[in-house]
Amino acid sequence: MSLIAWIQLLLIGAAIGAVLLMLLWWKARRVSFHRLVLLTTFFTFDLILFGAFTRLTDSGLGCPDWPGCYGVSNPLAALTQIREAENLMPTGPVTLSKAWIEMLHRYFAMGVGFLIIIITAWSWIKKSTMGQKIAITSSAILALVCVQGAFGAWTVTLKLQPLIVTIHLMLGLSLLAALTYLSSMSAQLENKQYSFRQVSNPHVKLTTIVLIILIAQIFLGGWVSTNYAVLACDDFPMCHGSWYPAMNFSEGFTFWRELGKTADGTTNATLPKSVTPEALTLEEAAQLIDERAAKGPAKGKGRAAKKPAAKKAAPKKSSAKKA
Ligand code: HEM
Repeated sequence: MSLIAWIQLLLIGAAIGAVLLMLLWWKARRVSFHRLVLLTTFFTFDLILFGAFTRLTDSGLGCPDWPGCYGVSNPLAALTQIREAENLMPTGPVTLSKAWIEMLHRYFAMGVGFLIIIITAWSWIKKSTMGQKIAITSSAILALVCVQGAFGAWTVTLKLQPLIVTIHLMLGLSLLAALTYLSSMSAQLENKQYSFRQVSNPHVKLTTIVLIILIAQIFLGGWVSTNYAVLACDDFPMCHGSWYPAMNFSEGFTFWRELGKTADGTTNATLPKSVTPEALTLEEAAQLIDERAAKGPAKGKGRAAKKPAAKKAAPKKSSAKKA
């Protein structure tokens, strides 16, 4: 990745942040600290929705490297490589639209990072009037967004390793929660009525327990999604006609899973034993798929015939799908 591409990426993030700031100024003719925090919170919420869209459209590896796309700052500059990959595997992980979705997610994330840098700088410059607590909270949020950026990078470079994607989801939601908390603090600067601190909660213990259960439930939801395990039970409310079907907890909760393995720990039949999934290039993967299509029962039906087969295998699959 060249220095110029790096600078271009940072400028794109700064430009998105600057446009948002201008919109804020245009709407209210003034930019207060509290409004800036609210804007950043709202934009982070949108970014989280866009992250889910990135995942659900299977665009996570739309640009298989980081921080740029094939080493450049935008998919148009990498058109040749993207088209090559798309021709090899038309429904594979890299297509032009997927590359745009992935890069837009990164650009918006940089916009959020830019706004959080301004919040932090502002809180320290005006520490005497705003108070040290706001400055410290803002700095903690800046650290959190940097860690989140790092997990975003690992999401890509570790090829959607389930644990990394789940942590990326949890940290994204934590960032939103932290910004919401900061907006309740900054509301007090403007004597707004909706500060959390003005609401007394007589059930602190109960709320804490519910919060822990909620966090666990979000983690489980993320874990199901990142392991592509959603079709393990294809009926509802029971699972395979039972309230307590046979389950393999130790395999299901193996947190660092070798890519290319199925949920029961065996090697995915698509890959020969000699092939390490992490080292597999796109071209080699395409070749393997072609060889398998030539040998396998789907012979003669072409790639389109693979979809139902993949669906049927879904209950047992883990990260293997992406490897
Ligand atoms: C403020 C920063 C960020 C936030 C709040 C954020 C949030 C999210 C969320 C909530 C998801 C959906 C996760 C899921 O559904 O399980 C997601 C997906 C994703 N994010 Fe981020 N993200 C941020 C920064 C980044 C960065 C900097 C990168 C890459 C350099 C990145 C790469 C990805 C990728 C590749 C996915 C899709 C994962 C998949 O397809 O499985 N994110 N993000």
